Amino acid sequence: MEDEIFDKYCQAGAFAASVIRKGATEIRPGAPYLEVIEFIEDLATSDESGLAFPLNVSLNEDAAHDTASAGDERVFAAGDLVKLDLGVHFDGYIADTAITIDLGNNGLLVDASREALNRAIEKVRPGVTVGALGYAIQTEIESRGYRPIANLTGHGLDRFVVHKPPNIPNIAIQGGAVLEEGMVFAIEPFATTGSGHVSEKKRVEIFQQISQKPVRLATARKVLEAVKERQGMPFAKRWLPDSKPEIALTTLIRSGMVHAYPVLSDIPGSLVSQHEHTIIVTEDHCVVTTA
Ligand code: CO
Repeated sequence: MEDEIFDKYCQAGAFAASVIRKGATEIRPGAPYLEVIEFIEDLATSDESGLAFPLNVSLNEDAAHDTASAGDERVFAAGDLVKLDLGVHFDGYIADTAITIDLGNNGLLVDASREALNRAIEKVRPGVTVGALGYAIQTEIESRGYRPIANLTGHGLDRFVVHKPPNIPNIAIQGGAVLEEGMVFAIEPFATTGSGHVSEKKRVEIFQQISQKPVRLATARKVLEAVKERQGMPFAKRWLPDSKPEIALTTLIRSGMVHAYPVLSDIPGSLVSQHEHTIIVTEDHCVVTTA
């Protein structure tokens, strides 16, 4: 990897780490969802940096992909387990990091995903398989009496690309991709008191344009115009200028131009914790950009 690119990944990582630390202090019982999310998204946006995806704030059994809607009236409550998943980029080079904020008494569950992430990072070096990282994650979480979420994974990163191979499993799999020097990816263990599998909820707030075709519907054209500057990175419904973009979005999804990311949840009443870092594989180990 060229030094200049390496530096941009590291700048993005250090910045993401500082934003998420500051952001975490805003999450307390009674704090309004929308206000906190917009505050953190503003922190992450500067002349040099932008959001790689909308700030994900997912509560309790929700593992991922929730964020505020326009006019969201929810407030954080005592007892909530809050996952904060932040992606920022410098010139397209992405840092993806997540932490869990415990507004209740779930410190042990929070420790499980954090320590699983640490165990996986310890294993990273060229020649190791992603299956070995999954094994490290699963054994750490299970040794603490919880389950890893099997159908959520870490993922490779590239310039303006939030998800690409290799996927980093949260469970032991046979073999899988072999790590190489210069690979950039996010490792993100989820620990749960529930089933260990997430399914899609009806709620969808996050979308991504995945192709470009001619479109007749004027409101759909307006959505495409508004998300052009995303350069293919995900966007939030509340970022769109039209206050009722549902029909336009449905049209774009049906035509294969936009992908929807529904909220992903374990079983009702369960609790999910998450930690995530972005790493670059080096000759004999790795650099954690978001540390
Ligand atoms: Co990620």
